[in-house]
Amino acid sequence: MPSEPTRVLFVCLGNICRSPTAHGVFETLVKSRGLEQRITVDSCGTGGWHVGQPPDKRAASAAAQRGYALEHLRARRFAAEDFDSFDYILAMDWQNLSDLQNMCPKDFPGHLGLFLQFAPELKRDEVPDPFYGGEDGFTAVLDLVEAASEGLLREIAGADTTR
Ligand code: 4NP
Repeated sequence: MPSEPTRVLFVCLGNICRSPTAHGVFETLVKSRGLEQRITVDSCGTGGWHVGQPPDKRAASAAAQRGYALEHLRARRFAAEDFDSFDYILAMDWQNLSDLQNMCPKDFPGHLGLFLQFAPELKRDEVPDPFYGGEDGFTAVLDLVEAASEGLLREIAGADTTR
């Protein structure tokens, strides 16, 4: 791994359901492996409706049932400067990715892509938006996010994750 921290940004639409879940799950995984000095984590949304708000109560409750705390997070909107500040910018669905690609500088040196590409075994591209659905949608988000977080950590930290 490089000596500088690797900076990871998760992006969804509202930054109150999927990307804060990814933020909390991946950050917890990073800390559990003692890698918090070497990997930093953030999240945001392409839309601005929920800026300043904590995660959706359903997302926080589903996450808490698996031991992840999300309550300290606050929604913010993606900004063009984020391309200067992150090495991995990971979208939850194709629409999020398309919105980011439209803003992405040609010379962006980092990785812009779909989060679930780090869990190819799932054979899915998208973390479905749970906002208008029931509680099971939030549990499904957690299943997908946990799998992709493991894959992302293997990609970034490689052998460091096995110690
Ligand atoms: P998220 O879910 O993108 O996973 O945070 C949504 C939250 C809010 C809205 C849509 C999706 N909304 O339309 O307000």
